This record gives sequence, C-alpha cells and structure tokens, in this order.
Amino acid sequence: MFLKNKRILISGLANKYSIAAGIAECMHREGAELAFTYQNERLLKNLEPIAKSCDSDILIECDVADDNSIKKAFNKLSNSWSNFDGLVHSIGYAPADQLEGDFVDVTTREGFKIAHDISSYSFTALAKAAKSLLKENSALLTLTYLGSIQTLPNYNVMGLAKASLEANTRFLAASMGKDKIRVNAISAGPIKTLAASGVKNFRKMLNQHSQRAPLGRTVTTEEVGNVAAFLCSDLASGITGEITYVDAGFNTAAMPLSEFAEWLRIYMTNIVYQSYWTYVVLRSQ
Ligand SMILES: NC(=O)c1ccc[n+]([C@@H]2O[C@H](COP(=O)([O-])OP(=O)(O)OC[C@H]3O[C@@H](n4cnc5c(N)ncnc54)[C@H](O)[C@@H]3O)[C@@H](O)[C@H]2O)c1
Repeated sequence: MFLKNKRILISGLANKYSIAAGIAECMHREGAELAFTYQNERLLKNLEPIAKSCDSDILIECDVADDNSIKKAFNKLSNSWSNFDGLVHSIGYAPADQLEGDFVDVTTREGFKIAHDISSYSFTALAKAAKSLLKENSALLTLTYLGSIQTLPNYNVMGLAKASLEANTRFLAASMGKDKIRVNAISAGPIKTLAASGVKNFRKMLNQHSQRAPLGRTVTTEEVGNVAAFLCSDLASGITGEITYVDAGFNTAAMPLSEFAEWLRIYMTNIVYQSYWTYVVLRSQ
C-alpha cells in the first residue's frame, strides 16, 4: 500500500478502457484516496461506476479548453480537499481530420493550435491551478507517446503536441522542484482506447508493435497504472522531469529480432560463399 495517505486527482477517464481507468485501479489498490475530473456531462455516466469501485465520490466537471472551467473545478475540489498529493493528466486530443493522411497536406493552423492546447498546454494549466493546493512531495504525471520523437503514419500533429508535452514535463519539473513537487511522464505503448481509435489504422500500429517489441506484445492499462502509481509515490522521490517508457521495450528495438536473425543468416552465408570463391580463384592462379 505505497500510496496510503495520498490524495490523488485523476483527469481523463472517459470509460473503462481509458489509461486513466487502469491508473485509478492501481492507485486505489495501493491505498490512495482518489478524486476525478471529467470533460463533460456525457462522460459522467461512464466515470460513476469506476469512481465508486475506487471508493470515490469526488467527481468534478473540468473542460481543459476553458480556463473558467478549470478554475471552477479546483474551487470545487478545495471544498472536499484542503490539500492533495498528486495529479494525473491523462488528456489528449486533436481533430479527426488531423490524424488521417499526409502530415504536410492535412495539418492546419487550427488543428495544430487545438492539438497543442488540449494535449500540452492543459498540463501547465492544471499544474498552475493545482499548485496552491499541492503538498510538499507531491507528484504530477502525464501520458505521452513515442510519436514525440519518431514519425509514424497518421499520428501527425499529435507527435508535435507530445514533443511539446515532454518539454512541458521538464520545464514544469524545473519550475516546481523548488516547491518539492515532482513532474514526470509515462510514454505508453499503443493501447486500444477511445482516443487511440481516432488515429487511422491504429490496429496496424498494434500489430507492428507486437512484432518489434522485445516482449513480443503490447502493454495493458494495468501495466501503465502500476508505473503511474510508483511515480506518484514516495518510492519515486528521486525522479523528476523524466519520460518513463512502458511499451514492452518497443522504443529500444530498431528491428524485430527474428528479422535481424534472418538478415544475419543471409549476411554470414554471403561471407562464407565469397570466401570460398576467393579461395578457389586464388588456388587456380
Ligand atoms: N491509447 C494509447 O495508445 C496511448 C499511448 C500513449 C499515450 N496515450 C495518451 O494517454 C492519454 C489518455 O488517452 P487514452 O488513450 O486513455 O484515451 P481516452 O480517450 O480514454 O482518454 C482521453 C481523455 O482526454 C479527455 N479530454 C479530451 N479533451 C478534453 C478536454 N477539452 N477537457 C478535458 N478532458 C479532455 C477525454 O475526455 C478523455 O477522457 C492521452 O494523452 C493519450 O494521448 C495514449
């Protein structure tokens, strides 16, 4: 129970498939007291049973696109909690037309603005709003993806927004370190969620991931949740400004090992073959 006596606010739980749902489950298991924000009324019915299973009845509407909504949400939170220990930002969005097709053709000024506003600035906005309520040794956590540093089809402007979010994590860590607040990010492997299904050919991404990842599979929301719980706990008291990969090792592998073995076999065969013919030619001279 390494989160006992910790109060943690979780944002971005849209339904039971959300990464935030896996995080909530693991944090609850480790003894944390939880509160939740939700984007709009429509999503509240999905959140209610999950919050109940985590013994939480603090459910607050918060649309991160709207400063007033953020302000109201934290005012409301302060009625229940005079202070708290952690915040999970599990929010990302880009308009659907930005996530399909060639980057240079489909990316628009408006799409760029929205993706960065909702997926990156909102982390700063929530940190700003939470700051006065956060206790010493608190932790902030966000969710990012490998598209921040490597290209892949259709992820497009979300890759840029995630790069911004990762820089945001480091700048927030530098800025809030003096208040003894840690700020980290988890770079999760692809998981089939509502947000992920907005990326065209997401299923293909899942297949390729399983083929190339050293563990030969994708990851679960529980695996991400376990690391999130650790990073928000005092066990991670020496970690801040970091991007931790929970992706079955995908980011460390340039090529599936099985393909590499095949390439090595052909390469070695060629060397043996060439050596043999060099020997034959030299002998015959
Ligand atoms: N699923 C993946 O493959 C994957 C991989 C790596 C990182 N991530 C990141 O994890 C985070 C959570 O996504 P998910 O995959 O669990 O999908 P999800 O759809 O379950 O969660 C996305 C959340 O963002 C919220 N959101 C969007 N706009 C908002 C707004 N204006 N105000 C408040 N909330 C808003 C939605 O309500 C939703 O709860 C995102 O940042 C996503 O980019 C996802």
